Amino acid sequence: MIRRYDFGTPIRTHAVVQTLIPETAPMPFFTVEQQSPEVSFTLALHRDDVIFGLGENVRGVNKRGHLYHAWNSDDPSHTENKASIYASHNLLLFYGENRCFGVYFDDPGDMVFDLGYTHAAEAKITSREGDLSVYVIEADSLTALCREFRGLTGRSYLPPKWAFGYIQSRWGYASAEDARFVVENHRSRHIPLDAVCMDIDYMEDYKDFTWAEKHFPDLKGCVSEMKKDHIRLVPIIDAGVKQQEGYSVCDEGLEKGYFCKKENGDPFIGAVWPGRSYFPDFLREDVRAWFGSKYHLLLDAGVEGFWNDMNEPAIFYSPETLEKAYEAADRLRGVNLGINEFFQLKDAFTGTSNSMEDYRRFYHEVDGRLIRHDKVHNLYGAMMTKAAAQGFHAYDESKRFLMFSRSSFIGAHRDGGVWQGDNCAWWSHLLLNLKMLPSLNMCGFLYTGADVGGFGCHTTEDLLLRWLQLGVFTPLLRNHAALGTRDQEVFRFDCWEDMRNILRVRYALIPWLYSEFMKAALEDGMLFRPLAFDYPGDRLALRVEDQMMLGADCMIAPVYEQNARGRYVYLPEDMLMIRFRSDADYDLVPMEAGHHWIDLELHEMPLFIRRGHLIPLAKAAEYVDGIDASHPVLLGWIRENTAVTLYDDDGFNASPVLAEGLRTISVTVEDGCARSVQADCSRLVID
Ligand code: GLC
Repeated sequence: MIRRYDFGTPIRTHAVVQTLIPETAPMPFFTVEQQSPEVSFTLALHRDDVIFGLGENVRGVNKRGHLYHAWNSDDPSHTENKASIYASHNLLLFYGENRCFGVYFDDPGDMVFDLGYTHAAEAKITSREGDLSVYVIEADSLTALCREFRGLTGRSYLPPKWAFGYIQSRWGYASAEDARFVVENHRSRHIPLDAVCMDIDYMEDYKDFTWAEKHFPDLKGCVSEMKKDHIRLVPIIDAGVKQQEGYSVCDEGLEKGYFCKKENGDPFIGAVWPGRSYFPDFLREDVRAWFGSKYHLLLDAGVEGFWNDMNEPAIFYSPETLEKAYEAADRLRGVNLGINEFFQLKDAFTGTSNSMEDYRRFYHEVDGRLIRHDKVHNLYGAMMTKAAAQGFHAYDESKRFLMFSRSSFIGAHRDGGVWQGDNCAWWSHLLLNLKMLPSLNMCGFLYTGADVGGFGCHTTEDLLLRWLQLGVFTPLLRNHAALGTRDQEVFRFDCWEDMRNILRVRYALIPWLYSEFMKAALEDGMLFRPLAFDYPGDRLALRVEDQMMLGADCMIAPVYEQNARGRYVYLPEDMLMIRFRSDADYDLVPMEAGHHWIDLELHEMPLFIRRGHLIPLAKAAEYVDGIDASHPVLLGWIRENTAVTLYDDDGFNASPVLAEGLRTISVTVEDGCARSVQADCSRLVID
């Protein structure tokens, strides 16, 4: 059951797809305090209450004990002191003894989530602007709460099937030659690969919807040549549009008044990669339609997927903030800079980026009303993704396109996936990647993954290998690194064969992973869940944060520490561990419920299957289209006749029907022997 409560004058965010009439009775669970314009919601926490939610964020899966903000930020430093990163996913689930409810704050502006930070036994959520709708969700389980929430906010985005393949990316790939070099080095070593991302360097002077002719003399030819080799090129699109006369996107946007404006009506200027840029007012339907249609230029060249970036929006400086910094520098020139003056000078320049002053300098038109940017800040990236989705729909409504964005808001989960932004080549970020997965899934973002190997800092061979062992399970599996960091492609490392073998496990699992993903998306479920979701009565499972449930029948527990040769796991029930070295080389280890140490050499990774259940392992290939799932090997620990039902489709159809794509593989067990006409039962454990 979901009930809606309105405060102030709520702004349309596009997060919710169900129309509920606001209640007039007081809101349950919380004490509401209004101190204009702020509204606060306070709740006493019981000793053992757990708080899930908040989607893309740092720290744990249980959010209790810290302070979070809803404020989309271009912050490449995902350290544990951060209150927010690129997204605002304002969903909280409160879970404890006799307590199981969710609350969604549909507020596009700044919010503070004090979840036992100021007072350990109190959660206090504050909307700074006070214009919001609050949705209180009640159900009898955590899974049911999330399903209700998805019903409220709409079905998750469906990527094309090829987007489950391995994607190689790097800030610095600029040309057709660079892409060919990457592809050749994968193909010649039989390392699976389905796509190469093109970062900002493919553009002409960082201008959206252009490509540098000298780097791509024949873009269409290059895209089709790659496609023959089963590779897709995936270009980046940035939010800011370069200010330049004669650049058609800029000229047109100015002429039609599509860019965000300042109070005096002049278009707002902020600098990003191309220098001074304009920011399309994505909150307007007509601007979204216009910007969305620009993707057609690349779709016409055969491109089928994109990533949207810098859409918090990131602003390096504006002419106004830069001028202030120069003034500070002039004032301090020649001064003997002591502690205060030195920091004033330094901060004058670093403070120009993503500044509140700039976010208060421009306006959006929302349903005919002018609203200052800071009040709707968190919607910008989501509305850019919506523009892209509208553009794809207008281009070919029958087809799925790949789209993943950096910034997002609830609602954007219907239009695209997200990647987890500029992480670092740190072991702690491998763990953070794992912890964000279920939180993002609760909020509807199913197509997600992090930059495998780490974006910033120099990776190490063992970190990349271990990270791939987690990435094997994330729908978006992309190796991406920042300019200036060590080369990070699999083929650069001595142990590339071990990495290739792990990627082959991914490809052997894709038919199952795709099936689990599609079932989760089409049935409003989750692909990754904290253990507490599946074992509600288990006190120990409630606190586990470094293992996740995956799909209906599996659990993952990656190694996330350097030099570790194994790890401890907690099994809430009997499970079969598959210790993979490759798609063709693995051990089956039946394990009873409880605590275990498991040995895992650097090239080994575990997958746990609940006893009594089956998963199929297909014949791997070097690209998704080549995978043969017709007669899979079945893995499982069973006693009696068992079946597994898989979903499949052509991988493109934009309106798939679950029932039409289901295929059941059944196994009969007689005298300790398993048989199936549709599958190979040679690796089943029977007792
Ligand atoms: C941002 C993105 C990163 C990209 C870089 C250059 O930092 O998050 O993925 O490589 O910009 O475009």
